[in-house]
Amino acid sequence: ETQVWRVDPNAPDLEHTPQIQAAAEKLVQGEIVAFPTETVYGLGGNAKLQDSVRKIYEAKGRPSDNPLIVHVANLEQVREICTEIHPVAQKLIHAFWPGPLTLVLPSRGTVSNAVTAGLSTVAIRMPSHPVARAVISASNLPIAAPSANRSGRPSPTQAEHVFHDLDGRIAGILDGGETGVGVESTVVDCTTTPITILRPGGITKEQLIEVVGPVSDDPGLVRSDQAPKAPGMKYKHYAPSATMYLVPAGESRIRELISSEKAKGRRVGVLTTEEKQGGYPDADVLLVCGRRSEPSTVAHHLFDVLRHFDQKKVDVIFSETFDQKGIGKAVMNRLSKAAGGRILD
Ligand code: TXA
Ligand code: MG
Repeated sequence: ETQVWRVDPNAPDLEHTPQIQAAAEKLVQGEIVAFPTETVYGLGGNAKLQDSVRKIYEAKGRPSDNPLIVHVANLEQVREICTEIHPVAQKLIHAFWPGPLTLVLPSRGTVSNAVTAGLSTVAIRMPSHPVARAVISASNLPIAAPSANRSGRPSPTQAEHVFHDLDGRIAGILDGGETGVGVESTVVDCTTTPITILRPGGITKEQLIEVVGPVSDDPGLVRSDQAPKAPGMKYKHYAPSATMYLVPAGESRIRELISSEKAKGRRVGVLTTEEKQGGYPDADVLLVCGRRSEPSTVAHHLFDVLRHFDQKKVDVIFSETFDQKGIGKAVMNRLSKAAGGRILD
């Protein structure tokens, strides 16, 4: 009973197409629908309506202490949701919105308590994807939207991923094709001085520094004895069903690991890149995740590749690692979560 509406993101006057209107109508009725953003697919509901927000948590199987991002189409909606947009936040908005940046701001209390999980702050983002913008505008509502995956699974970058996880649990899916960035937005806490990165993502630390100067990283991101400030960052996430290991030492170490695991009768998968894919002739399943010379292509393919390993029924996965520069920081953050922090020297 989950409807799928195909939509061409480049169609003229998207907001008034029957598909967008149908999806917006569901949102207005309090139902929940998935739609593409430039990062990953989101699962949206009316942020002001507790009942809609509850449906989101329920469909995902998401712990209720993990707050959601409110998606908006214009700045007027932002002013309705937070108490103030101070100069640093304004600079970020000017530089990066619409786009893959989420700002944590003091909440005015106008969205449901369920959205903020009782916090005094609220996370807000203005997506740039034409389908996301059209459906938010057509509904004329602030839309609470976490990634449209079952909790713990890799985030969806294609409508098929959403369908696989949530068919029968949500009213509909706007299928606008593959998303672009491939990893989620950068979450920045604007209530601290300097601002703090709570989750690395589509906008890089380097880009933020260029606009606002110094930027700190949430200690919870780098130290395992510190609770992360973004509640969602503490959960196991993105994990394929096989046990995954990151192998910073690279190809020859991965080749050794392949033979020792195969000797134990295990089916071995390797996450590699175009440049290195010839290096593992004995792997049972070899999946190529973009080009390391272009880190944005690694981000773009990452979640689809993680999902593919499940279909290939491997027992263990060894993954190459990436430089923590630019978008590489978000890629390594998601990979280490997928690997549950397992790193082999
Ligand atoms: O790219 C994205 O951000 C995607 C697309 C759909 O927009 N959405 C997304 O939402 O990734 P979600 O719910 O999967 O991740 C939201 C993150 C979580 O880590 C959550 O804990 C954090 O943002 N967050 C939300 N509100 C917060 C707040 N008030 N303070 C600190 N962290 C917050
Ligand atoms: Mg998520």
